[in-house]
Amino acid sequence: MSSNSSFGIHDLSFATTEYVLSHEALAAYNGTEIGKYHIGIGQRSMSVPAADEDIVTLGATAAAPIIARHGSDRIRTVVFATESSIDQAKSAGVYVHSLLGLSSACRVVELKQACYGATAALQFAIGLVRRDPDQQVLVIASDVSRYELDSPGEATQGAAAVAMLVAADPALVRIENPSGLFTADVMDFWRPNYLTTALVDGQESVQAYLQAVASSWKDYGEQGGRALEEFAAFCYHQPFTKMAYKAHHHLLHHTGHETDKAAIEKAIGQTVAYNATIGNSYTASVYLALAALLDQADDLTDQPIGFLSYGSGSVAEFFAGTVAPGYREHLRTEANLAAIARREPVDHARYRELHERSFPSDGGEHLTPRQTTGPFRLAGLSGHKRIYQTR
Ligand code: COA
Repeated sequence: MSSNSSFGIHDLSFATTEYVLSHEALAAYNGTEIGKYHIGIGQRSMSVPAADEDIVTLGATAAAPIIARHGSDRIRTVVFATESSIDQAKSAGVYVHSLLGLSSACRVVELKQACYGATAALQFAIGLVRRDPDQQVLVIASDVSRYELDSPGEATQGAAAVAMLVAADPALVRIENPSGLFTADVMDFWRPNYLTTALVDGQESVQAYLQAVASSWKDYGEQGGRALEEFAAFCYHQPFTKMAYKAHHHLLHHTGHETDKAAIEKAIGQTVAYNATIGNSYTASVYLALAALLDQADDLTDQPIGFLSYGSGSVAEFFAGTVAPGYREHLRTEANLAAIARREPVDHARYRELHERSFPSDGGEHLTPRQTTGPFRLAGLSGHKRIYQTR
C-alpha cells in the first residue's frame, strides 16, 4: 500500500420515512408560536415512520442503492449504528444483511453510543479497510427519534437512515487521520431499557454538546489537525439545526475568531437543508449534513470539511475529510430530494396515533397495516420475532 493511499466514504445514500408532520401542524396543536420552531430551533418538519417501518426497513432502503451500484462482492463487514435498537442481542444489521442478500462470508455488528455511533462505525471501518484495501465496509446509521408526546423534545423528533460504503480511494470524501476525541460521563440524554421514548435534559444537552465541541477541537489541534481557517464547511451533529449554528458560534468564539453571522452562515448554511425537514435522525444526522452540503455546494474538490460528531452521555469526535476530485458524478442528489419529497403529510391526529403504536409483548401474532410504499416493510411480530418483507 502506498503511503498516500486514501480511505473514506466511497458512496452515500439515505432513506427517510413514509410520512411527515409539519411544525405548523404541531404548533397549531400545542399553541407554540411557530417562530420558536422555524427560527428558535431551526426545524420545518419531522419524518414520521409508518406502522410498518423501523430502523431495519430504513437501513435496508438506504443501503440497497449502494449494493445496486457497486455490488457486494467486496463487502465483508456491515456495521449498523443506532440508538433506537429493536433488540438487546441481535444486531439490526443481520436483518439488513438478509434483506439485501449479502454473502454469508460477512461479519455484522451493531454499535451504540447515542448519536456518535455512526462515527465510531466509520472510523472502525477505515481501520478494517486500511488493513485490507480490497475489502469494503457497509456502514449503516439508522434511527427513529422518539420523545414523549407533549414534551419539549417532541419538536426535535425525526427518522432516517444513511448508508455509506467505506473503501480505499473513495469517490466522495477522504477521511484524514487526526481525530480530536472527548468523553465525559454526563446525563444529558438517555433511554433506559424499559422506556420507548428518550429522556432529555434539553438545556444540559446543549451545554454538554458545546463543551464537547471545544474539548474535541482542542484535542484535534494537539493531534496535529488543521487550522480552523482551512475548512470550507463544517458538518455538525444536528439534533435540531439551530444547534449547528450554536456550535459553530461557540467554536469561533472559543478559538478567538470573529463570530460574524455571514461567516457562520457560509460554514454551516448548506449543511442544514435535509435535517431541517427530516428532524433528528440521531446517528445519521451528521452524515445527512454531509449529503446536503455535497448536493448543494459549488465545487468542493480537494476542500477540507470539518466534522463534529456528538453523542449524548457523552462522546464527541472532531475530524476532517477532503472532497475527492470527480465527486459530483457520484452524488445521489435527485434520489435524496425524492426521498424527502415522497413523504406523505399527516395531520396531528394521525401522527399521534402512529406515535402511540407499540407491539403487544404477549408473543402473539401481530400484523402491521400496509402503509409504506418503500421497498422493505415490517410485516409484523410473531412469537416475539420481527417479520420483514421485500415488496
Ligand atoms: N421566535 C423565535 N425564536 C424563539 C421564539 C419565537 N417566537 N420562541 C422561542 N424562541 C427561541 C428561544 O429563544 C430559544 O433560542 P436560544 O436557544 O437561541 O435561546 C429557542 O427558541 C428554543 O427555546 P427554548 O425555550 O429553549 O425551548 P425548549 O425549552 O422547548 O427546548 C430544546 C428546546 C431543543 C432544548 C428541546 O426541544 C429539547 O430538549 N430537544 C432535545 C434536544 C436533544 O435532542 N438533545 C440531545 C442530543 S444533543
